[in-house]
Amino acid sequence: MRGDAAKAVIRPIREADADSYRACLDTVARERLYLAFTEAPSAAEARFFVRSMIQRGLPFVVACDEADAVVGWCNIHVAPDNPLRPGFAHAGMLGMGLLEPWRGKGLGTRMMQACFEGAARIGLERIELQVYASNTGAIALYRKFGFVTEGTKIRARKLDGHYDDIVIMARLRPPQG
Ligand SMILES: CC(C)(COP(=O)(O)OP(=O)(O)OC[C@H]1O[C@@H](n2cnc3c(N)ncnc32)[C@H](O)[C@@H]1OP(=O)(O)O)[C@@H](O)C(=O)NCCC(=O)NCCS
Repeated sequence: MRGDAAKAVIRPIREADADSYRACLDTVARERLYLAFTEAPSAAEARFFVRSMIQRGLPFVVACDEADAVVGWCNIHVAPDNPLRPGFAHAGMLGMGLLEPWRGKGLGTRMMQACFEGAARIGLERIELQVYASNTGAIALYRKFGFVTEGTKIRARKLDGHYDDIVIMARLRPPQG
């Protein structure tokens, strides 16, 4: 069934969404194309991750259908404080995905805008991500939002007999230069 994006709601994730978020992540992961995961982490790990992101005030939004099931997510993870490795609190790693019927309808754009508002609120200066070179749709979206390519890891993944390069991208605020 195709998703009706006009009726989708983009909102901050809640702890109660953890299982639905995990199911969504699992479906996208099992496509074996776009994510490093090929299946979701355990329910306990997903709940812990969601809870800690909320407690730390990090940007994490979900797209939900009319039944309030999660059909997509976008989050920016910042490495937890570590006094032995200081200097990374200004940078976060973006991850996102949508169930296939919900793609190409502007929801990725809406989720990313919401996450960037959250990132600005907490003063993040650098948002980075890694994307497979074969994922040209996602790369187009990231460019549209001002991400620039910083480098490429050649043949970084070998899965199901196919190599894929990993493109490293980042968006700086204020912009470089
Ligand atoms: C990547 C993803 C989150 C984008 O969300 P989306 O809702 O499909 O994207 P949007 O509809 O908001 O499109 C925004 C822009 O992205 C680009 N884009 C999206 N899908 C595209 C496609 N299949 N081909 C080319 N460009 C595409 C376009 O530039 C588009 O802008 P436009 O509408 O002005 O042309 C979504 O397609 C997805 O979940 N893909 C599978 C999982 C994934 O790749 N996750 C990211 C891993 S790094």
